[in-house]
Amino acid sequence: MELQSSWLLHTLYAFCFILLLLLLLSPRLALFLYLLRLKLWCSCEICEAYLSLSWAKSFDNLCDWYAHLLKCSPTRTILIHVLGNIITANPENIKYMLKTRFDNYPKGKPFSLILGDFLGRGIFNVDGDMWRFQKNMASLELDRSSIRSYAFEIVRCEIEKRLLPLLVSFSGKEDDDGVLDLQDIFRRFSFDSICQFSFGLDPECLQLSLPLSEFAVAFDLASRISAERAMAVSPLVWKIKRRLNIGSEKKMKEAIRIIDMLAQEVMRQKREIGLSTHKDLLSRFMRTVEDETYLRDIVISFLLAGRDTVASALTSFFWLSAKHPEIRSAVQAEADRVLGPNQEPKSFEQMEQLHYLQAAVYESMRLYPPIQFDSKFCQQDDVFPDGTFVKRGTRVTYHPYAMGRMEEIWGPDCLEFKPERWLRDGVFCSENHFKYPIFQGGFRVCLGKEMALMEIRSVCLSLLRRFHFELVSPYHSTPRFSPGLTSTFRDGLLVLVREKRGS
Ligand code: HEM
Repeated sequence: MELQSSWLLHTLYAFCFILLLLLLLSPRLALFLYLLRLKLWCSCEICEAYLSLSWAKSFDNLCDWYAHLLKCSPTRTILIHVLGNIITANPENIKYMLKTRFDNYPKGKPFSLILGDFLGRGIFNVDGDMWRFQKNMASLELDRSSIRSYAFEIVRCEIEKRLLPLLVSFSGKEDDDGVLDLQDIFRRFSFDSICQFSFGLDPECLQLSLPLSEFAVAFDLASRISAERAMAVSPLVWKIKRRLNIGSEKKMKEAIRIIDMLAQEVMRQKREIGLSTHKDLLSRFMRTVEDETYLRDIVISFLLAGRDTVASALTSFFWLSAKHPEIRSAVQAEADRVLGPNQEPKSFEQMEQLHYLQAAVYESMRLYPPIQFDSKFCQQDDVFPDGTFVKRGTRVTYHPYAMGRMEEIWGPDCLEFKPERWLRDGVFCSENHFKYPIFQGGFRVCLGKEMALMEIRSVCLSLLRRFHFELVSPYHSTPRFSPGLTSTFRDGLLVLVREKRGS
């Protein structure tokens, strides 16, 4: 008996030791196993540059390198063999995958596994009937004029009661005391706004003291770790860590516990008070759906969709506008003409009359899309319109960042920031979704597009009319991005703020 138990103990130790060793070697091992599964090795120039990271000698960001490769490809499509990933910047292919053969290009199991713990069965993470149900329910609600005015009220209130006082408090300060990271401010702003809109809950991240909200911290952590899972070379590592409940996966579990508790508490209070008085999305969905876990999942997808994207769009807009005084003046002149000097927009609809502002926002997202690339998985062997063979199971990525840099789509001045390209006789004219898939296109087009545009334009207008922003070094000709699901400036957007006279 003793012999048996000591043998068992030894086996257990040996198992733990091997597991530990595997974890220590895991990134390399995972890469090796992944390559084995996909393709033993590839000595083509692109795969070699990818694996050896030699692309980083010539390009600041991976997306700049991909943009270069896509420009050089005659079909505007490339295949990274070692990743089993087709990347395209060809509008015909994009129309084909997002619309013509939509059913053959779902989000797929690999992504729903990665995001499943955080997003559950939320719209962002499901395909098929479950997606259809949520899309129909959400579209119905988002089309109502009552929700538009609710969104408008939230945004105006967040700007007037929090954003403006905060910037005034920094205005005129010099040196380090006055340096403000606008990217951080925009993330706080968009989190407060999207939480109130979707949940009916105000995390108050943009209070003057710039507090740390437990919910925001948990939400950030869960988003970051989910993004790291998505970027890992193989899912093996995070799956082992999750099974053993260690490291980042342990933190993820704790973050999700906090989010779940809060969601449950909000729902409990809503049921207690009654749903009819509330205007937020969750209260609206609660009238149709009973299952509380499902409700939680639906709303968390909205928070994820509407937070970092809006903050990212605002960050690049202010980065570009700081370098283009003529664009700041044109936005201000239009606002004075349409709304009257120092007058604020009064409704969602009045924002629509600001054509130049809309053009400037579209132009900024053309060059710096909040979602730089987006992937689907091919279900059955297929051939793209440009002749590329797409094998079943291949990850297929469309690349809005590269597309904003294509001469054949935007002309020889494609690298310039020129809002005028969106105007015909002073009227804003949109572009085909498949040439400009910033909000995606086809059947899964972004459901929050109108809300996002209203929010972005409201902030741009209010801040540009009242403040000067001076970029603080170090600044490069192109921003450096952090890896992640949404485009984020690696060093933030550091500025000095000055209030304009008479504002
Ligand atoms: C500038 C801001 C935004 C951009 C650039 C953007 C972009 C996108 C993109 C590219 C997708 C497709 C993602 C995919 O299927 O993988 C998407 C989907 C979605 N977006 Fe947005 N979004 C923005 C803001 C918002 C906001 C504020 C909301 C919520 C109010 C929102 C709600 C959604 C939802 C619910 C989906 C899922 C649609 C579906 O799967 O059918 N988005 N968005």
